[in-house]
Formats: sequence, structure tokens, C-alpha cells
Amino acid sequence: MSILFSPLTVHGLTLRNRLWVSPMCQYSAVDGVPQEWHHTHLAQFASGGAGLVVAEASAVSPEGRISPEDVGIWNDDQREAWAPIVAALHARGAAAGIQLGHAGRKASTWSPLSGRHGSVPAAEGGWTAVAPSAIAFEGYAEPAALDHASIDRVVADFAAAAGRAIAAGFDVLELHAAHGYLLHQFLSPLSNLRGDEYGGSLENRARLLLRVIDVVREAAPDAPLFVRLSGTDWADGGWEVESTTTVSTWAKAHGADFFDISSGGLVAHQKIAVHPGYQVPLAARVRAEAGVLVNAVGLITDAAQAEQILAEGGADAIMAGREWLRDPHFALRASSDLGIDIDYWPAQYVRARPR
Ligand SMILES: Cc1cc2nc3c(=O)[nH]c(=O)nc-3n(C[C@H](O)[C@H](O)[C@H](O)COP(=O)(O)O)c2cc1C
Repeated sequence: MSILFSPLTVHGLTLRNRLWVSPMCQYSAVDGVPQEWHHTHLAQFASGGAGLVVAEASAVSPEGRISPEDVGIWNDDQREAWAPIVAALHARGAAAGIQLGHAGRKASTWSPLSGRHGSVPAAEGGWTAVAPSAIAFEGYAEPAALDHASIDRVVADFAAAAGRAIAAGFDVLELHAAHGYLLHQFLSPLSNLRGDEYGGSLENRARLLLRVIDVVREAAPDAPLFVRLSGTDWADGGWEVESTTTVSTWAKAHGADFFDISSGGLVAHQKIAVHPGYQVPLAARVRAEAGVLVNAVGLITDAAQAEQILAEGGADAIMAGREWLRDPHFALRASSDLGIDIDYWPAQYVRARPR
């Protein structure tokens, strides 16, 4: 028996296994519209046996893009371009997820593919980033603090993006509230110095996330709703796992189903001791203390390691990123590494299936 290769049902959706593709920005969109690259990139993981493929951080508004080359889900051209990509995932037996994001103060930065660093100036296609407070991420331009009307617009943008994602056929919606992007910027006391009802106490700092969960839940009542959280900022005075657990409990009460526990990204001076499975203890704590479904992610690169994390109760599922880039058929290989016979090898590939 393998837990990794047993199905998991979340909010009425059954995933064929628990080895999933973590969202990964490709910085290859044109006006936020996914391209042929995104189609091929994502479909190969579904052929490779993934239970769930989560498409990269997709901006809910133009100013929410990390770079000008980010994909989006803020207009109908984008929705129409996503639809055949979703169909390709479904045709290959995987569930399709999309990560809904707003980069906040980390928006309008050069794509890593450009070879340049820092903020893109307006003259070269950049824009003024927005944030809870006018505090720059180290090395980036100073953002503008959001006023109440702009916060309401962000909430409405998430709701509209969720509706469009469902119309494009996505099964799973994931809110990006990690890695130092807008929703995380509100959560962390290092980036949120507001004096109004969105700053100060944990309850106030979590208010925007919970409002977004409410409207997305309403826009997509039947979809499993995931939230990616950073379990810690890895920085003094920053966001910690205790608050992650508390906010996960509140998020669940507001209708979130599943928690994707990552870490870091809020400040450049973070101190992370990276090693295999380094974020698993964060996921395990949130799972145990908040009593919610979680996945672990981060340097989980082989089948036995993934299986062991699940067997020890560290998580309910595994997301991997870079291992899928190294081997788009990671799940097919993992099943044979564990000696598990799965019935979703693509018929065209069956001659490669170990017997
Ligand atoms: C090329 C690349 C792009 C990424 N883009 C995103 C993203 O859009 N959203 C996100 O939450 N994490 C993103 N990440 C982080 C991954 O989802 C994942 O959490 C991280 O790589 C750790 O997992 P791994 O060790 O299995 O790669 C990205 C990582 C890579 C390598």
C-alpha cells in the first residue's frame, strides 16, 4: 500500500494521487495571456501522472503581476487561453489548479529570464507597486500604501478572477498568501504597519485574506479552495508558525479546504537553512495544531521520501516543483520506484512501464 498513490478527496474533488505539481512562474506570457509554452509545460506533468497540476501565480489584476511577463486571469482573453490548457490536463487525467496572486510590493520587477534585477521603471513598462504600507522590499522601488477603496478593489479582483478561473474549467483555486506577496505582506508585522482595521492585531492583519476567502468561496462554491501560506518569514519579528496555525483555523472556518505550507519570501534578509524536506515540520505543525488538510513542499525529490512524509503524518499530500522540471514524468517514475501499479500510464507510453 502507498499513501502517495492513494486518492484524496477534497471538497468533493477526487485527486488520483497525492503527488502534485507546485505552481511555477514561467515569465513567458504576453499581456498576461498564457502561450503555447504554458500549454506544453503544464500538459507534460499530467502525462507524467500528477494528481493535481497547479498553474503558476496568475495575477488578478495587471498591477498584481510580479513581472510584465506574468500570466493573468483578469480578463476574458486570458480565460479563453487558459481553457484549452485546462482541457489538456483533464484529458491526461490530472486535476487542474490555478494559483491566484497579487504581488503587492514585489510587483513590477524584472523577470529572472531578463537577466536584470530590481524594479522595472515606468519608462520600460513598469508601474507603481501597491502594498499594505509604503515600505519597500529591499532593493525594490517604494510601493504606494493601499487606501480602503483600493483594498476593496483587490478583493473584487480576486472574486472576478476566481469566477473566470472556474469558467476556464479549473477545478482547484489556490490563493497565493505566501512568499512575500500581497496577502502575505498584510499578514506579516514586518511589512504591515497600518494603523487601521487591516493592521496591528493578528485578527486585523488576517482581515484581507479572510475577506478574499469569503468572496472567492462565494464565486466558486463547488471548487476546492487552497491557501498557500509561508509558515515563517525566517526573520526576527516576522511571521511565525503559531500565527500560521491560527490563521489556518480561521481560514478553514471561512471556507478554505486545504493549506499549502511553504515559507519565506517576505524579506531579503531572511535566514533559511535549506535541506531536504526543510518545510515539512511547518506543514506538520499546521496539520496537527489547526486540524486542517495540508501539503508539504520544498526539496522533496524522491518517492520514498514523499511516502515517508505522508506515513509519518507530516502532510496529506506532496507538492514538488523543480523535480517535475527535471523529470516531467516524476509520478510515473515514483510509482515504479515504490513498486505500485497505477493504471494511468498513458497508453502510448505503456511499453516503458516496469513489470
Ligand atoms: C521556476 C520556479 C517558479 C516558481 N513560481 C512559483 C509561483 O508561481 N508560485 C509559488 O507559490 N511558488 C513558486 N515557486 C516555488 C515552488 O512552487 C516551490 O514551492 C519551490 O520550488 C520549492 O519546491 P521544490 O524544492 O520542489 O522545487 C517557483 C519555483 C520555481 C523553481
